[in-house]
Amino acid sequence: MLKGMTLTQFLLKQKRTSSGIDENIIGLMEGVATIAKVISREVSQAGLIDLLGYQGDINVHGEQVQKLDAFANTTFINVLGSSGFLTGMASEEIEDFYAVPEGTPRGNYLLSFDPLDGSSNIDVNVSVGSIFSIHKKISSGDAVSVTDFLQKGRDQVGAGYVIYGPSTMLIFSLGSGVQGFTLDTSIGEFLLSHENIKIPIKGKIYSINEGYAFMWEERIKKYVDGAKKEGKTLRYVGSLVADFHRNLLKGGLFLYPADSKNPQGKLRLLYEASPLAFIVEQAGGAATTGSQPILDLLPEKLHQRVPLIIGSINDVKQVEAC
Ligand code: AHG
Ligand code: MN
Ligand code: MN
Repeated sequence: MLKGMTLTQFLLKQKRTSSGIDENIIGLMEGVATIAKVISREVSQAGLIDLLGYQGDINVHGEQVQKLDAFANTTFINVLGSSGFLTGMASEEIEDFYAVPEGTPRGNYLLSFDPLDGSSNIDVNVSVGSIFSIHKKISSGDAVSVTDFLQKGRDQVGAGYVIYGPSTMLIFSLGSGVQGFTLDTSIGEFLLSHENIKIPIKGKIYSINEGYAFMWEERIKKYVDGAKKEGKTLRYVGSLVADFHRNLLKGGLFLYPADSKNPQGKLRLLYEASPLAFIVEQAGGAATTGSQPILDLLPEKLHQRVPLIIGSINDVKQVEAC
């Protein structure tokens, strides 16, 4: 029983047992843990240190950038940008990818991330998160190119998310199962609390923004009607990380389908759908666009949107059968 093991001890143990874990990955994951601690501290104090509200500019998606979005993005860049583990980073908050400058130590990994997920919930003290995805550099030469970021989700080296909720948790997979660590703020350590997470094959929860029901395609309407007839519970927080995490632990299905307003859906492939799809498949669940597995999609653009149906495998199959 490894419960209570620190993240560092766990990663070193993983290095002994799985070949794919090198010291760069360990350094990268330790960096993500540091980022999570810093953002967690700011999120919990946001109301006191003028970090709530709109920062004053609009991002590449045409969305208002919250102050905490910008803070979280800067934290990712500051902690990992010159860590020596990465050649480049892609962020929801940056239009083009960030290439680690020449002359700065570089490693052969790439990090794509949503620095703060659920921005609309920051000012009302509802759980938010960060999502990250790790790929290995595939282009030749030292410099990073956009093709390095546009790799299939199935080729991720690792992926995970942080949820800033009643407790701060770091959930990730490096390809051999899903582990959950809870931040013990009294000692500033992430300790293993959820070992080898598996999602129930069927859930009693469905998560979708029913406000858009009039714009759904027929089969989504059919699935949701069926879910109601089955007596399923609707739970929708409005933070993807919070909705996903609850369904991962309890079983259930999250849907952000394409609709007449968002023909490609709203969520982004590279740093929202793909990392969570990696996690859910490692946990025995499934993630689809509605017509193909998320992990098999070859991204064409950094900020490409994609419909996302993700969670318990039987529930995903039920939608596909509609
Ligand atoms: P972000 O704050 O990173 O832009 O993500 C917000 C996303 C996701 O967290 C959530 O599931 C979805 O927006 C909610 O969208 P609606 O408000 O349209 O339901
Ligand atoms: Mn998001
Ligand atoms: Mn975001």
